[in-house]
Amino acid sequence: MPKKTIADLGDLRGKTVLVRVDFNVPLDKKTGAVKNDRRIRGALPTVQKLLDVGAAVVAMSHLGRPEKATPEERKNLTMDKVAARFGELLGKPVQVVRPAATAAVQAMKPGDVVLLENLRFDPREQKNDPEFAAAIAALGDAYVNDAFGTCHNDHDASMVAVPAALKAAGKPRAVGLLVERELHVIDNLLGSPKRPLIGIMGGAKVSDKIAFINALLAKVDHLLIGGKMAYTFRKAQGVDVGNMKAPDEELDNARKLLHHVDRMMTLPTDYLVANSDDLTDTKVVTGSIPAGYEGVDIGPETTAHFGNKVRQAGTVIWNGPVGWFEKPAFAAGTKGVAAAMAKASADNGVVTVVGGGETAEAVEQFGHADEMTHVSTGGGAFLAYVEGKPFQSLAQIDDK
Ligand code: 3PG
Repeated sequence: MPKKTIADLGDLRGKTVLVRVDFNVPLDKKTGAVKNDRRIRGALPTVQKLLDVGAAVVAMSHLGRPEKATPEERKNLTMDKVAARFGELLGKPVQVVRPAATAAVQAMKPGDVVLLENLRFDPREQKNDPEFAAAIAALGDAYVNDAFGTCHNDHDASMVAVPAALKAAGKPRAVGLLVERELHVIDNLLGSPKRPLIGIMGGAKVSDKIAFINALLAKVDHLLIGGKMAYTFRKAQGVDVGNMKAPDEELDNARKLLHHVDRMMTLPTDYLVANSDDLTDTKVVTGSIPAGYEGVDIGPETTAHFGNKVRQAGTVIWNGPVGWFEKPAFAAGTKGVAAAMAKASADNGVVTVVGGGETAEAVEQFGHADEMTHVSTGGGAFLAYVEGKPFQSLAQIDDK
């Protein structure tokens, strides 16, 4: 059943709208500055639209994991720097207020924006606590979920109990423009993709992604594997992978998928390997990895092969870097995949979808984010949605 969008919220002039955004952005460890504002930019169209129609906006998000932070780290998890960046992008000041700041919210005029302080500073946020939720829900006349990256969190009050409390008070709940687009792109990709549909998977652990790999194998025409998990698959095949260690659980998971190799799944044929004691000592190898070395990227032959597959695709879905791209010397494979996808999108109209925090970061770092059909703001949420997991947060949104 399609969900209400902000266009279905009726006349919002003079109303206060609660907008759950995902401003859980990467911060500089020392200064606490926002390192990447993609998620903030992602929510701007919704916030701007609500302001344009005469509403005031109370935005709210979690930031990091304060429950696991030291007191020093916790200081960096206030919303101040996020609010400053949000305000810069909106072109107006954004004040940070406490989640139960009734007076501050009542004083808001149409066009005003405030950001609630980090919701996770209150442990009740992650317990879906109804009292905490009721206090927040009382601040708004309507609720908008524009936090795709957090949609899979069934225990967050701001995602589930807050919209439930608005419903109990007879107030409307909708998805924002970002969530609408994320769902539309992924639904199309899984429902009626332009074929062939090619998946590209990378990342470290097979076990973290096994449900996602199985979900992809049920949909894609072919799956290309890179990243550290490729060496786990090779080890499971009995190939020597040098210094790479794979726990038994990892190998067991990889073994369960080995029958797909070649038929449905392609593993790298060459790799860039580096000496574990001296990462500047590198070489490209095929077959097994020599003792003392570890795989750090797919090799040039594999990069070219993945590029060809991308060019011939109708749709490409990519999750997980194919190498240790944070190190420039080991970034060529990930860079090559990103460039091939961007070019295939521009030249051949290939639908290119990038999901997951690190992959999105890589694509941005290499300057290709705007050339993709869609770069998801979801990490865990992207994986869970593709896996077909039901989201309590979306169940709370009113049907059209
Ligand atoms: C994310 O970054 O994946 C979301 O913001 C959810 O954050 P969490 O994993 O801390 O719940």
